[in-house]
Amino acid sequence: MQITLNSPLDMHLHLRDGEMLKLVAPLSAKYFSWALVMPNLSPSIKTKEDIIAYKTRILEATKWEQFIPYMSVFFQKNLNYEILKELKNEILVVKMYPDGVTTNSSWGVKSIDLWEIGHIFEAMQKLEIPLSIHGETNDFILDREKNFLPTYELLASTYPKLKIIMEHITNKESISLLKKYDNLFATITLHHLSITLDDVIGWMLCPHNFCKPIAKTESDRQALLALALEADEKIMFWSDSAPHPKEKKESWNGSAGVFTAPIILPMLVELFEKHNKLENLEKFISKNAQKIYGIQAVKKEIILEKKDFLIPDMYGNVVPFFAGKIISWSVKE
Ligand code: DOR
Ligand code: ZN
Repeated sequence: MQITLNSPLDMHLHLRDGEMLKLVAPLSAKYFSWALVMPNLSPSIKTKEDIIAYKTRILEATKWEQFIPYMSVFFQKNLNYEILKELKNEILVVKMYPDGVTTNSSWGVKSIDLWEIGHIFEAMQKLEIPLSIHGETNDFILDREKNFLPTYELLASTYPKLKIIMEHITNKESISLLKKYDNLFATITLHHLSITLDDVIGWMLCPHNFCKPIAKTESDRQALLALALEADEKIMFWSDSAPHPKEKKESWNGSAGVFTAPIILPMLVELFEKHNKLENLEKFISKNAQKIYGIQAVKKEIILEKKDFLIPDMYGNVVPFFAGKIISWSVKE
């Protein structure tokens, strides 16, 4: 048995830089038609020059594959209409990180005060540049996403024509808000469809399942799964594949981020097959995003076959999500 996926898209990917870029970028480029690359390098991607130079390095690292990297820019207070107009052709989104909520976000916004930065959202609305947000506060860990929802609501109601992407939603409250505003869209990761907080700290401490936002309860996972399996038009898949070297994950202050890039497609096919929803997978992984962003993906067919795939223990110095597990689907090479 086999299945063909047309133009899979990864709408949120961390490719890093230097040696790590060379290691991980080909693994995404092989399986995806294009990806939206996050700007949280250290220092972050802030200017047109940064974007062009980074894109060139990504293209060099993936030159053997048919793959388009779409770029994002790190939200900063000095953005304005003129700067955004200049950037528009280089980026797909502006990515906003609240200060300190995740890896390399310490240049993020300290507060979302519309008196101070409202003109940036207005400019983005006018220029039709979507705003993608890592929506978490710095409160108690399980409340961080919930406590950011009023900010999403403020932005969605004040700028009704601004497309706002609620990144990697993990709970039921976020799903309710998503449904309330036409200009809110959301993304869901494979890991938040697969694990709960128990898989991170419930039995043994599992650093390779640790990410931001942290996985929540089983009923949250079920609600996300229902939305993904139906391929609701307001949601898109994105991996949030975020590699860190093994020693940085297995450490007294381990980094947040789950490395899923090389195992996403087999795992998603297995998941959708298990729930008898294979017919919706292409919408979830490709068509919805094309509609939301108004972009047509380059044609790229990926064939998967029903054949066991043992997830390797390591890719270079990075441990993948679910290392050592056997999945019932493989990508046909
Ligand atoms: O767990 C995470 N790691 N979440 C993010 O949003 C960023 C990412 C990273 O860059 O490592
Ligand atoms: Zn991310």
